[in-house]
Amino acid sequence: MKSIQTIPGLRIAIDGPSGSGKGTIAKTLGEFLQLPVLDTGLLYRFVAWRAINSATAPEDEEALVALLQSSQKKLVWNCEGIFFGGNKCNAELRSEAVAAVASSVASLQGVRRALLSLQQTVAKAGCIMDGRDVGTVVLPDAEAKFFLTASQRERARRRWMQLREKGDDNSSIEAILNEMKTRDARDASRDIAPLLKSDDAIFIDSTTMRPDEVIDRILAILERRKLIILNNQVETYP
Ligand code: DC
Repeated sequence: MKSIQTIPGLRIAIDGPSGSGKGTIAKTLGEFLQLPVLDTGLLYRFVAWRAINSATAPEDEEALVALLQSSQKKLVWNCEGIFFGGNKCNAELRSEAVAAVASSVASLQGVRRALLSLQQTVAKAGCIMDGRDVGTVVLPDAEAKFFLTASQRERARRRWMQLREKGDDNSSIEAILNEMKTRDARDASRDIAPLLKSDDAIFIDSTTMRPDEVIDRILAILERRKLIILNNQVETYP
C-alpha cells in the first residue's frame, strides 16, 4: 500500500450543508493522511447543550457568551470530539434537540466570535476541519479548501438512513427534507457567517458519488498541488 506524506501544518477546510457527507469524508481523509479531524459543528452544539442545561434562552447572546466563557476552562475540543469536565459528551451533543438549538445559537455574532480563536488555535498544527465557514472565516488561508454538497433530496435520504441505522424508524424522508429546506435557508441567508463557498474552494457535488470517489478526487487535487506526496514517488520531501 502507498504511504502518504503531508506538508507540515497542512490545514484542509471542508465546508458544506448537513448531509453533504463532509463528516464521513473528513474522517476517512483524516485516517488516510494521519491528520486530526475537527468538527466545528460540535462547538455550536456544545453552546446549545449548555444553554439547554442551564435554561439559558438560545437568543440571549450576552448570556450565551458568558456561559461559554465560564465553561471554557472545562472544555476540551479535539479530534475525539468534545469533553466537558473530563467527560466525553459527543452522544448528547448529536441529539436532534441539541441540533435545533445549535442552529439558533450559531447565528449569533458574539457566540461565533467567542469560538473563533479556539478554532484557529487548534488548527495551527495541521488538521482537517469541517463546518460551514471554515474556508471563509475560520481558516481563510487554509492550504486546501473544499465545498461539499449534494442535492437536498439525497442529503435527506442519507440523514434518514443514518437515523434508521440508529434504530429510529419513525422519521420519513419527506419530513426530513422539509426540515432540511428550512435549516438550509436559515444557514444560507443569515447575515453572520452564512454557508457560502469560498472563491478558492473546490466545489464537489457528491449526489451521485460514492465516498471513495470523493476521497479519490480530493487526494488527486492535494497531490497535484504538492500538498501531499506519495512516498513511493519521491525519496525525500524537500
Ligand atoms: O454540522 P452540525 O449539524 O453539527 O452543525 C450544528 C449547527 O451549527 C448547524 O446549525 C450549523 C452550525 N454550524 C455553523 O454555523 N458553523 C460551523 N462552522 C459549523 C456548524
